[in-house]
Amino acid sequence: MTKSLFGRVLPLFVLAAALSLMVAGCGGGSGGGGGGGGGEDVSVASDIAYPPFEFEKDGEPVGFDIDLLDEIGKRAGFKPEYKNVGFDGIIGGLSNNQYDVVISAMTITPERKKRIDFSDPYFNADQSLLVPSDGGIGSVDELGDATVGVQIGTTGEIKANEFKDQGKITGEVRTFDTIEDAFAALNNGQIEAIINDLPVSQDEVNGSGGKLEIVQVIATGEQYGIAFPKDSDMRQDVNKALAEIKEDGTYEEIYKKWIGRAPEEIPE
Ligand code: ARG
Repeated sequence: MTKSLFGRVLPLFVLAAALSLMVAGCGGGSGGGGGGGGGEDVSVASDIAYPPFEFEKDGEPVGFDIDLLDEIGKRAGFKPEYKNVGFDGIIGGLSNNQYDVVISAMTITPERKKRIDFSDPYFNADQSLLVPSDGGIGSVDELGDATVGVQIGTTGEIKANEFKDQGKITGEVRTFDTIEDAFAALNNGQIEAIINDLPVSQDEVNGSGGKLEIVQVIATGEQYGIAFPKDSDMRQDVNKALAEIKEDGTYEEIYKKWIGRAPEEIPE
């Protein structure tokens, strides 16, 4: 006679149970599957449509912010897992702990600081007025009833609304979900100008073959920070790694790679 069913199945069962324990043991030991010694996975949200800070190349996020945070992660012992998120909802999502970190060329503002925490500043920026080179608009004071595009939820939108309140813009301030949508509308002639972060609009000018130009730098002195939910225990470690990166020449390397020149000054 053959062995009883029980006799054949039980050893298999024991083997399977042992295997699953081994697998579980491995996962636990690596602290949540950081993998390859890269440390713990950390979920990072960004609006990945903001070159040269974050954009997609061959399906992968690349840019200044990505290089900077990857380097910070190496030094602080975590591995960023990037999630593409609309900028407008990004602060809400962070304050609800939907992700651990935001890096998205985000300006540190007192309003935002009420809801989230920021790292030390990592980039000095200003706003800018971007127009078609043949458009006949030479400054904010010449906007009149032009339609001005902005990305929704940004400091560019805030600036444009300030100009509207001051009567410098009498036309529409039109919001777009991404700055790339706004650039497309400008290139199609649907809008006549864009108010947006200088380094990003400059990048668009560089790729426009002379079709676009920045006619005014709007000096806001804003600074970008990496953002966390309130009281995150990551903030200190990130600041420490960031300080080293600014100090040892790595910051300058990343800056040159993505901005195309050395930084005038490194924010402290
Ligand atoms: N610096 C501006 C702000 O904080 C614009 C940031 C937009 N970032 C992005 N990835 N779309 O409002």
